[in-house]
Amino acid sequence: MRLVILGGGGFRVPLVHKALVADGRVDELVLHDVDPARLARIRAVLRGGPRVRVTTDLDDALRDADFVFSAIRVGGLAGRAIDEQVAHAHGVLGQETVGAGGIAYGLRTAPVARDIARRVARLAPRAWVINFTNPAGLVTEVMAEHLGPRVIGICDSPVGLCRRVAHALGVEGATFDYAGLNHLGWLQGVHLDGEDLLPRLLADAEALRSFEEGRLFGAEWLQALGVIPNEYLHYYYDTRDAMGDDRGAFLLRQQERFYDGEVDWETTRLEREATYMKQDRDTLEGGGYEHVALRLMRAIADDERTTLILNVRNGSTLSTLDAEAVVEVPCAVDANGAEPLPVSRLPDHAAGLVLSVKAVDRLVVEGTRAAALKAFALHPLVDSLSAAEGLLDAYARRHPELAHLS
Ligand code: G6P
Ligand code: MN
Repeated sequence: MRLVILGGGGFRVPLVHKALVADGRVDELVLHDVDPARLARIRAVLRGGPRVRVTTDLDDALRDADFVFSAIRVGGLAGRAIDEQVAHAHGVLGQETVGAGGIAYGLRTAPVARDIARRVARLAPRAWVINFTNPAGLVTEVMAEHLGPRVIGICDSPVGLCRRVAHALGVEGATFDYAGLNHLGWLQGVHLDGEDLLPRLLADAEALRSFEEGRLFGAEWLQALGVIPNEYLHYYYDTRDAMGDDRGAFLLRQQERFYDGEVDWETTRLEREATYMKQDRDTLEGGGYEHVALRLMRAIADDERTTLILNVRNGSTLSTLDAEAVVEVPCAVDANGAEPLPVSRLPDHAAGLVLSVKAVDRLVVEGTRAAALKAFALHPLVDSLSAAEGLLDAYARRHPELAHLS
């Protein structure tokens, strides 16, 4: 079985490699990256496991792949740092995937994702694409225009939330009623033996304090909401407190030292993990992206039926959205791919946010100046039309990939 990783020079590739070694299913690993120096640096960290080939030729990488992990970062961490800085300079939130920062990142990434999807459809029409690339919902939706159900988007945050909630409740084997968009979802129920355990958890302030989302949102707010939001909802509910984050610049400085050969990979990984909001060992060890991707790949390759929360086309799952909209919901996965399972109807406040953000995502994907301006202006976290104009002009000036929008 041949697996191709796009963004093969990325910092987290050794984590994926480690998971592949443990799994044993893949016998050829092709690493593609646009930057040969980064590829070489990552290649040197990998030990054992499948045969590894590195290439900077995209078509050569994709030809006859069985699985493709798309884990690119258009503009690199330097681009992420600019996304955040420009937003802050305009007094708005600029997280990697949320608000103005997420729009800028989406504007850079959508055309590249579209090009990759077209090439996969031509060169490896039977391949399954597992999309790690953020903003994952929007990027998966663009790729699905060319790949249909053969592209599936993943994220570790819903899995992490469910794991932490199960742990706080002290239960195993529950099913999770989770729905929304990527980085914009809510857990509405935890079902075990015909009973919903979520009300019990919400009533227990001490149990709520025992896990990340409980501490982040506070017992009172969770009790008022009656559902548990994904950690990324922090940027919507606590926008002012969440503003100053310059994680992109921090990670850029940190990783430059690794890519320049000054610090080894393991030291850099430990430094990065020490800064995680989620200190939960369980999450770091068992719930990372690479484990979600491997579980998905295994379910498809071995026809081993399982349930995972994934980004797939909506069909008729969320009644507020059309069938083509990519949503993040529990799916039944086997050799036929991922099929969304029924979920509860979202509360109005959540459905409204989902609809607004989906509309913004689609303007981002359109990619013209007029659509981009509308995207910034209509985003719930951009508070004025003049700020939207200022953001668009500044991003077009700072990002070479967005020069056409000025
Ligand atoms: C989580 C999210 C990812 C995101 C990452 C950022 O894992 O699910 O979508 O890219 O956090 O982590 P970082 O360490 O780069 O800030
Ligand atoms: Mn994610």
